[in-house]
Amino acid sequence: MITASGVEVRVGSRLLMEDVSFRVGPGDRVGLVGRNGAGKTTLTRILAGEGEPAAGTVGRTGDVGYLPQDPRTGDLDVLGRDRILSARGLDEVIRGMRRAEEAMAQGEGDVREQAMARYSRLEAAFTARGGYAAEAEAASVASSLGLPDRVLGQPLRTLSGGQRRRIELARILFSGASTLLLDEPTNHLDADSVVWLRDHLRSYAGGLVIISHDVNLIETVVNKVFYLDANRQVLDVYNMGWKAYLAQREADERRRHRERANTEKKAAALMAQADKMRPRRPRRWRRRTWPAVPSGCSPASRGSGSPTRSPGCASPPRRRAAARR
Ligand SMILES: Nc1ncnc2c1ncn2[C@@H]1O[C@H](COP(=O)(O)OP(=O)(O)O)[C@@H](O)[C@H]1O
Ligand SMILES: [Mg+2]
Repeated sequence: MITASGVEVRVGSRLLMEDVSFRVGPGDRVGLVGRNGAGKTTLTRILAGEGEPAAGTVGRTGDVGYLPQDPRTGDLDVLGRDRILSARGLDEVIRGMRRAEEAMAQGEGDVREQAMARYSRLEAAFTARGGYAAEAEAASVASSLGLPDRVLGQPLRTLSGGQRRRIELARILFSGASTLLLDEPTNHLDADSVVWLRDHLRSYAGGLVIISHDVNLIETVVNKVFYLDANRQVLDVYNMGWKAYLAQREADERRRHRERANTEKKAAALMAQADKMRPRRPRRWRRRTWPAVPSGCSPASRGSGSPTRSPGCASPPRRRAAARR
């Protein structure tokens, strides 16, 4: 479960959102939406514990599986399969079992005995973590995401960026984490894999926060929508599915628009009233609204119609025209 209380997020000194509070528990499948640059990725990093809020707190209980938007570089010599299995600590156990097997085959006497004892211990740990069924499950998740066995047997270094990202997604889905944070999970997925992911997530029983441009995926999977409003720097929580959210948000925006228009109308009326009540300035000052006064023109001479006007001190055009008539 993830709990955010009074969270404020900034990049540098720029405020992205403030006073954000929500809870994502088992069965909550949240679509986090908002325009590009609103701060979805930044907020998700904070929820995953990879960043700190400027204010407020984020609490996590249970394991969190986080797929960041940008790829990471870890140990690139690891095999794809081992990277996925590492999510449940199975990679270490399997490697230990392989070493014990070699020692049993090659060793004699005590060495062989010790290797056999080690193998039994490791096999018990392997079984406790789901064992062969888990290994098959990992391979099945990977295959559904377009990663065949051949690819799983290769080190990450030899895989494309898209394949590595799919390995990370497979690892998170295989991990059994109680909360998933998926930032644009369909990037680098083919159409079949997207369909599989959609079906996998729609029945996910843990907590889920998903960011995606794939409206179909969001619509199918989520039962809550968090809308990050970049203009108001707030997160609006909609405890409803996608269609209901769209209707509700439109109604909310219409209401806010009406409220803004009313406030502006009231402000304009107040200002007009204040204008009327403002004491009138003396006539000669009120008239002085023309541009630049040429040097040598005294306020008294300009525009006063005085016959003693200095040369070059023109009257405004309207007055001159009137004088000609
Ligand atoms: N490391 C960074 N340094 C400076 N600005 C950043 C950094 N990361 C993100 N930003 C800015 O923070 C804002 C939010 O970015 P981001 O969280 O990626 O938005 P979203 O995921 O909603 O598109 C953007 O305006 C982005 O330019
Ligand atoms: Mg983003």
